[in-house]
Amino acid sequence: MKLTIEDVRSRFIKHFDGSTGSVYAAPGRINLIGEHTDYNNGFVFPGAVQQGMIAELKPNGTRNVRAYSIDLKDKVEFNLDDPKGPNATWARYIYGVCREMMALGVPVQGFNTAFAGDVPLGAGMSSSAALESVYAYAINDLFGDNKIERLELAKVGQRTEHKYIGCNCGIMDQAISCLGKAGNLMRMDCRSGEIAYFPWNPKGYKLVLVNSCVKHELAGSPYNDRRLSCERVAAAIHELHPEVESLRDATYEQLDEVRSKVSEEDAKRAAYVIGERERVLKVCDALEAGDYETVGQMMYETHKGLSKEYEVSCEELDFLNDVAKECGVTGSRIMGGGFGGCTINLVDEHYYDNFVKTVVEKFKERFGKAPVIIDVVIGDGARKLC
Ligand code: GLA
Repeated sequence: MKLTIEDVRSRFIKHFDGSTGSVYAAPGRINLIGEHTDYNNGFVFPGAVQQGMIAELKPNGTRNVRAYSIDLKDKVEFNLDDPKGPNATWARYIYGVCREMMALGVPVQGFNTAFAGDVPLGAGMSSSAALESVYAYAINDLFGDNKIERLELAKVGQRTEHKYIGCNCGIMDQAISCLGKAGNLMRMDCRSGEIAYFPWNPKGYKLVLVNSCVKHELAGSPYNDRRLSCERVAAAIHELHPEVESLRDATYEQLDEVRSKVSEEDAKRAAYVIGERERVLKVCDALEAGDYETVGQMMYETHKGLSKEYEVSCEELDFLNDVAKECGVTGSRIMGGGFGGCTINLVDEHYYDNFVKTVVEKFKERFGKAPVIIDVVIGDGARKLC
């Protein structure tokens, strides 16, 4: 069910002093292609979704933030000047954003806040980035005269993950949550920060997510290990080729040159990243030519790479990918960090009904519960609602 302002406002009124504040929203995301490329300085191709986080905030004249999570029915209070912050993970996101905004010179004051979300948690759709972005945007509006640019707000969210949560994520999720545009995918060069919007109107095709409902948890997880593997290989190549600063610049030939210096596992991870860079570029060309067959083919190849080389898949996601192939789906792959969550599928409209029916039936038969189908509509980035 779609989350509304009223869902949040009614709780805000109930849990605080009865008055109302300002309401903001920030979305989760999909990513067409370009997975695990952001922290390698490469390209990503995300779009904001209509699902996200909604938060109401009102300054309370103190140095304390009083926060209520509507979904978890949990209330936490923390002091803005406390260097340690709260224990509850959900509250640490808000605390981290406040502290990072303060570090940028924004005179953040205490506030009351309630928030809720309709991005499924752990589905690889970036519910945490939506949470960071909604507060970064709101605090910039309420206390900072909107002086901080959207990309900087995204970096506030990313630093929050690194410093307060323990996930060394890239910039993709926060960037699209802050910079998304309805009806457009956004290609981002994660080295230069350059952004290009691509209208997403694939005539005759639909984008649909299939949520395996295997919850992924990125903090302190193999996600950080993958990043370290990439950095080790990039450093080895850099010794021979000083112009190579990250895997974004590396070639398969250079990878071969350093194979004896890095572990087999690290080399396998790097091979995936180098391949993914090529695939993203092919998808850009294919999109310009309206060639969705090639887009789909690249998606399948990305899935194979994520499953066999990067090893961030699981039985359920590989199964969903196989069923998509059997049903004639144009492209299908794991979306986001992996280890669970959704597949993203580019489906010819003629095959849509059959695919949805078959995938639900087969998955249920195999794993005992139905996956959740989510039709994708590309929405806007962070904004004030009222
Ligand atoms: C997570 C991270 C992103 C990105 C993706 C994989 O969503 O937060 O920065 O690395 O995984 O593409």
